[in-house]
Amino acid sequence: MGHTRWWKDEVIYQVYPRSFQDTNDDGIGDLPGVIQHLDYLKNLGITMIWLSPIYKSPMVDMGYDIADYQAIDPQFGTMDDFDDLLDAAKQRNMKIVMDLVVNHTSDQHEWFQKALADKNSPYRDYYIFKKTVDGNVPNNWRAIFGGSTWTEVPGEPGTYYFHTFAPQQPELNWENPKLRQEIYQMINWWMEKGVAGWRVDAITHLKKDLDWASIPADADDGLVSVVKKGQNRPGIDAFLDELKCETFDKYDAITIGEAYGVPESDLPNYIGPDGYFSMIFDFSYMNIEVADVNEWYLGPSSWTTKDLKAILFKSQADISAVDGRSGNVLENHDQPRALSKLVPNAKYQTGTAAKALATMYYFLPGVPFIYQGQEIGMKNFERHTIQEFNDVSSINNYEMALKKGYSEKEALKTVNAKSRDNARTPMQWDSTKYAGFSKHEPWLEMGNDRSCINVVDELPDSHSVVNFYKQMAEMRSDDRYHDILIDGALVELQNVPDDVIAYQRKLGNQIITVLINLGTHEENVTLPEMARRVILNNNVPMNLTDSNLVLPPYTSIVLVS
Ligand code: GLC
Ligand code: CA
Repeated sequence: MGHTRWWKDEVIYQVYPRSFQDTNDDGIGDLPGVIQHLDYLKNLGITMIWLSPIYKSPMVDMGYDIADYQAIDPQFGTMDDFDDLLDAAKQRNMKIVMDLVVNHTSDQHEWFQKALADKNSPYRDYYIFKKTVDGNVPNNWRAIFGGSTWTEVPGEPGTYYFHTFAPQQPELNWENPKLRQEIYQMINWWMEKGVAGWRVDAITHLKKDLDWASIPADADDGLVSVVKKGQNRPGIDAFLDELKCETFDKYDAITIGEAYGVPESDLPNYIGPDGYFSMIFDFSYMNIEVADVNEWYLGPSSWTTKDLKAILFKSQADISAVDGRSGNVLENHDQPRALSKLVPNAKYQTGTAAKALATMYYFLPGVPFIYQGQEIGMKNFERHTIQEFNDVSSINNYEMALKKGYSEKEALKTVNAKSRDNARTPMQWDSTKYAGFSKHEPWLEMGNDRSCINVVDELPDSHSVVNFYKQMAEMRSDDRYHDILIDGALVELQNVPDDVIAYQRKLGNQIITVLINLGTHEENVTLPEMARRVILNNNVPMNLTDSNLVLPPYTSIVLVS
């Protein structure tokens, strides 16, 4: 039986702890820093916090390479700090969601170290080792971060281990029931501590095709993206079903799957009323700006708002067809800032456009996620040499671009546009040298727009981006709009200009109409009947005397009947 969807009216804020708030002046954000800002988040209307990984890690992939699932990395603090955070959140009636990274561990994890140390160790079977006789790697699969998915075991020529991501992230072998049980125990240990649930990392990769066969290459490196043989593969259902039953179900946990590429036919299993997860993220248009998400070093696409609309509404229709819910996102720690990505003309990358984008995704059915800094309109930060990047995937994509024949300048441009470091610059709390994030030089260079874009300056300004986010959260909990915003059906409005995104939410005879002009020209929209009273807008107050509405560039408006 499905549980009630107790989580459906949450507003969830993603904290990337490393870049949120440093409290001990080492330039690295930490858990006491999260506690320090709970009141800020509470005031913003946040009900739940998703923490990116804080576990012990060598930080090759910034914590998504875990060396000990049950220890806090000393850079972030101690287990006592974590317990304090849980308590402090609870006092404020807020919940904490952790990041569950169980497709792989760090190569520094004790299990992997034992597996390397002794061929006959039971831990060998916690990972995926293969021998070859011909001096070649076992197959031609390409890792997500570039290069082969196979790395030779030091001191064992001809033996390789498998990794979907970086070589320092060896893949766990989910075929092994003993490994699975260890994972379940670990999850339940955190649940017993009182976390509300999990954002589930890279979950569609758990099952690989067990023929481990090479297939035709998709690029001139002779390799083929691992997603073709190791993502959403038949047999994954049994793992996800068991995972849910052994862990999440017992605690009525909230779970949000990072589930790229789930085929439409599998959606009922994932997010139907009795699905493996409470929700999966709607990433439908997340990578619209690149020609190929798996090979993003190839550069930009030529997307239009019309494309974005088509993708977004198709995805929402698929989700509602299975009575599912999505986690709605504009940004996360793996993406450039939405303002820089979705507003191509720099002239329009302002607070107004930030609010227009917010309007676009926030009122869709599902649960809104806000990534730290999104709520103040943070933007990408350009770096001038590849040495200034930290992110492993940025560096690898730069190298792949060079191999492909792009110039250093072109490669740098592509990496600047897509780099995950864009979202990882420290949170801008104020306009001081290190933006109130730290007194010490931060681990990653700050953005240079903190004098205009920061929390302290925006909070007192009722027209600021941050107050717009606050207003949107208030609408979700306002008795007048709550039910329709949580449970209302979604209807796309056709017959609007290509650059205008227009939809309604409907419940009973109540209607909320949402209009956003994502283009650089003024657009005329004929208002649907009954949509007359403005309850939210991001721009100059609008006078609605007749049914024709003129929307200036990047203007958004929400109306009720
Ligand atoms: C997910 C995470 C990303 C990480 C990868 C490997 O995509 O969001 O940051 O690099 O999984 O764990
Ligand atoms: Ca610190």
